[in-house]
Amino acid sequence: MTSTQTSPADSALETVIDLDAFPLDRPDSAELLDLIAAARRDLAASGCACLRGFVQATAHAALSEETDRVAPAAFKNTQHITPYADFGGDDWSSDHPRRRTGLMTNGFVGKDLIDDDSIVKSIYSDERFKTFIAACLSLDELHEFADPIRGLVVNVMDDGEQMPWHYDANEFIVSLMTRRPEGGGRFDYCPDLRQPGDERYDEVKNVLDGDESPAHSLDLQVGDLQIFKGRYSMHRVTPVEGSRHTVLFGYSEMPGYIGGVESTRIGYGRVTQAHLDAEAAGRHDDGLAG
Ligand SMILES: [Fe+2]
Repeated sequence: MTSTQTSPADSALETVIDLDAFPLDRPDSAELLDLIAAARRDLAASGCACLRGFVQATAHAALSEETDRVAPAAFKNTQHITPYADFGGDDWSSDHPRRRTGLMTNGFVGKDLIDDDSIVKSIYSDERFKTFIAACLSLDELHEFADPIRGLVVNVMDDGEQMPWHYDANEFIVSLMTRRPEGGGRFDYCPDLRQPGDERYDEVKNVLDGDESPAHSLDLQVGDLQIFKGRYSMHRVTPVEGSRHTVLFGYSEMPGYIGGVESTRIGYGRVTQAHLDAEAAGRHDDGLAG
């Protein structure tokens, strides 16, 4: 870390978060309870809650530097995927959403490559932050992933890279923008486009055909924190100009999450001994972290 005037041991909460606007240090305050209530309302209404300026402007340069430094180490993946994050099957007609693929091109840097004294690691491990996010999601508690790679990752998208319309496998994602692209890179999402037990393929097809009327757009800025429930809300990131970096905070309701060997190798290009040990012991989860 180079730009903040704090010692690495200081919690990022005290030094880089606007505690007047986001009083995570006062968990029982009316102000924080109001924030939690607003986030819950937004999540219920649209599956998305955005906390603008969560990391205050004085720390933005340091935040961008943290991910700029590790971005060259991103493992890049290019795939054609359907909205259901698979490669499509022959069982469907050629214009069916189950067969419609889009180009997914992006990359990830694993937690073990991120500096231990970084702002983002400090936020990730802060108990008050975890408690706050859990409350926004109406969960009792959240735990950091045990996964040494997937726990905290930098999503790196460079010139021309994009995420096509898709649903996530995981229930929710917590992210922080650390570098805003020079252009493009807009996050679009269609709230509750599908429902449990009802894929609503006609509506999905309409969006794939260019009808963007169900879509909301979010123009994220550096320092904005986003909580997003992507299992039912189809979403995309439009092609990026320049570079777009976001940090994804990996939390789960149960402690001990660690990704499976195969999916980790596909997503990150490598695995650690912890992944091999977990798989050998029969305790792993192949759910996708990002
Ligand atoms: Fe996604």
